[in-house]
Amino acid sequence: MNANQRSQKPVLFVTGGSRGIGKAIIEKFQSHGWVVAACSTSAQGVQAGGSDLGLVCDVGNSVQVGQTIQSVIRTFGRLDAVINNAGVAGGYSLNPDDDSEWHRVININLNGTYYVSKHALPYLPDYSGRIVNISSVLGLKGVPDAAAYCAAKHGVVGFTRALAHDAAKRHITVNAICPGWVRTDMALTRMQEIGISESNLQKSVPLGRFIEPQEVADLAYFLVASEAAAGLTGQAIALDGGFLA
Ligand SMILES: NC(=O)c1ccc[n+]([C@@H]2O[C@H](COP(=O)([O-])OP(=O)(O)OC[C@H]3O[C@@H](n4cnc5c(N)ncnc54)[C@H](OP(=O)(O)O)[C@@H]3O)[C@@H](O)[C@H]2O)c1
Repeated sequence: MNANQRSQKPVLFVTGGSRGIGKAIIEKFQSHGWVVAACSTSAQGVQAGGSDLGLVCDVGNSVQVGQTIQSVIRTFGRLDAVINNAGVAGGYSLNPDDDSEWHRVININLNGTYYVSKHALPYLPDYSGRIVNISSVLGLKGVPDAAAYCAAKHGVVGFTRALAHDAAKRHITVNAICPGWVRTDMALTRMQEIGISESNLQKSVPLGRFIEPQEVADLAYFLVASEAAAGLTGQAIALDGGFLA
């Protein structure tokens, strides 16, 4: 598409579009006729995600995020929805000598969601514009040895609820999805770190299984594209097999 042309198809921007949940979101929206722009921190990574426009951007850097949103607008002439999916695990220890891990986890998971939302919001269309933030069940519940991640994901839920009020003036909806264990690299790495098997973890889930990345993508698509979700805003929806029930 030439610069300054406007895409006939609706355009999604998803962060963390190299693998896992982000990749499933790209596939879901493309299969329904959307154009998808995505970012991750490496060119090779974002290329593997299969988006229509792969951009290198650290969501924890507001200047880079602003430039990235401008690239999306320059390329497609419109932006209809944003999914803040980029995230990192970590921040598990309270280290008396070093705050860098705390700041890294808060910056990518929470500040990144704020930076992308504030840069994208002016371009989202009134009435049909949508923002979906990927939080976690750890955005609704505390657990031991996860202070920074829990703080960041609770922050994402709080930000979602507050932004929903501001965006409602333009009838734009803002919601959060709070997944339980989802079968991705992030979950598999964490299971190894804490030395617990999938079968043991599944015992704490009433439905007795992990969530698949495609299920998160399906719910995100519902929140963005379904008429039935038009009145749904400021919500934090646990997609967790009943873990928090
Ligand atoms: N898996 C779970 O059990 C689970 C449960 C609850 C919530 N979540 C949340 O779901 C989201 C997706 O997680 P996932 O399981 O799909 O994890 P993943 O497989 O590790 O993927 C994380 C994605 O985020 C990107 N990313 C990381 N840091 C970034 C940064 N600074 N700027 C831009 N992109 C960045 C990664 O790309 P690069 O590494 O290529 O930059 C990758 O595409 C996260 O917000 C996570 O906290 C996951």
